[in-house]
Amino acid sequence: MENRELIKLALEARKKAYSPYSGCKVGAALLTADGIVYTGCNIENASYGLTVCAERTAFFKALSDGHKDFEIIAVTGGREEKPETYFYPCGACRQIMSEFCGADFKIITAVSEEDYTVNSLNELLPFSFGREDITD
Ligand code: THU
Repeated sequence: MENRELIKLALEARKKAYSPYSGCKVGAALLTADGIVYTGCNIENASYGLTVCAERTAFFKALSDGHKDFEIIAVTGGREEKPETYFYPCGACRQIMSEFCGADFKIITAVSEEDYTVNSLNELLPFSFGREDITD
C-alpha cells in the first residue's frame, strides 16, 4: 500500500475524533502484515485520564481481531481544521507499539498526503524497555 493511501485513511479517521476537552483531533491508520488497515481516532473522557489516543485505538482494534504482525502506521493530528504540523505519537503509544512491533516498524507522521515524515520505531523509542528485560 502506498504511504499516501494510508495517510488518506488516517485523515478520514481523524474526522471521527471525540475530543471536546483538548480540541485536538487525531487519526491513525495501521497496516497489518496481511494487508488489512485498521483506523482509529482519539476518544476523550470527562475523567481525563481515561482518554485513549488514536494510535492505541487502531492497535487495540487490530489486536482484538487477532492480528499480531504490523507493518506501518500513519498518524495525523492537531487542533486546526487541517493538520498544520507533524503530530508525533506520545510516549505511551510508542511503548504500546514496542510491545507488538519490531525496531523497523515504520511510523508516518503526516500533515497531508504529500507532506509527511517516516521514522522507524527504533528512532522514536531508542533504548526501549520491553519483555526481554523482564523474562529469562
Ligand atoms: N493524542 C493522540 O491521539 N495520540 C497521541 O499520540 C498524542 C495525543 C490525543 C489524546 C488527547 O485526546 C489529545 O490528543 C491531546 O492530548
